[in-house]
Amino acid sequence: MDLKSHIDPLNIPKHVAIIMDGNGRWAKKQGEDRIFGHYEGVNSVREIVEACGEIGVKFLTLYAFSTENWNRPKEEVDALMELLVNTIAMETPNLNKKGVKLKVIGDTDSLPAGCQNELQESITATKDNDRVTLILALSYSSKWEITNAVKQIARQVAEGKLDPKDIQSKHIEANLCTCEWPDPELMIRTSGEHRISNFLLWQLAYAEFYFTDTLWPEFRKQDFFKAILSYQKRERRFGQTSEQLSTSSHS
Ligand code: IPE
Ligand code: IPE
Ligand code: MG
Repeated sequence: MDLKSHIDPLNIPKHVAIIMDGNGRWAKKQGEDRIFGHYEGVNSVREIVEACGEIGVKFLTLYAFSTENWNRPKEEVDALMELLVNTIAMETPNLNKKGVKLKVIGDTDSLPAGCQNELQESITATKDNDRVTLILALSYSSKWEITNAVKQIARQVAEGKLDPKDIQSKHIEANLCTCEWPDPELMIRTSGEHRISNFLLWQLAYAEFYFTDTLWPEFRKQDFFKAILSYQKRERRFGQTSEQLSTSSHS
């Protein structure tokens, strides 16, 4: 079935966030090392970025490496960093061809210098693209991000620039790494895990969650379109009642 043709073009989420999980298990199933799964996962990334361009998703945030992932065996961390550098270098022309702007969130200072340079080059080379913004969460965790936001707000208070009684959610938002983008309406996690693993805790406050058992290296365009269709069937009430929503949509 052609799932794409069933998607309502008037109800496309602006921002989709994905926890790309299951690379290691996919590789083990093939009798390969975990890192083989990370390599294959790059092909899924390419397809999903393309799918976003096709249906008009403007922002795609991909959880690529968490703060906690630094605790993995050194060989896996090293291989992931090398894969990152090589992929970014190789994919930048393709990103430009597809109108994709690259952005990064996370503690990028903790990445190896080679990664930081490659990322910066690609960010600069793609900065004028506006079809899709691809946001890579690297060395990212939400608690790290919120802690930083609190530090910055505390500094403003200490300097007398902000009165604690005036602090509102917009002040927190302004100090998150994602301040320039809308919150994701849809969060997808692959591989059958039903947890958030320190990802965008604040920004996902009202997101719709979509979980699938499909492992990330097998998650391709049709799976993505299926997630979008599932999203389009949901009623997003934001605390209101169904009746209120139908009244306001008729007025
Ligand atoms: C996700 O796949 C990629 C990263 C976390 C870098 P995993 O490597 O977590 O694969 P599983 O969950 O162990 O199968
Ligand atoms: C979450 O996956 C992080 C990324 C996908 C980058 P993990 O595989 O690290 O998460 P846990 O450990 O299963 O919660
Ligand atoms: Mg995992």
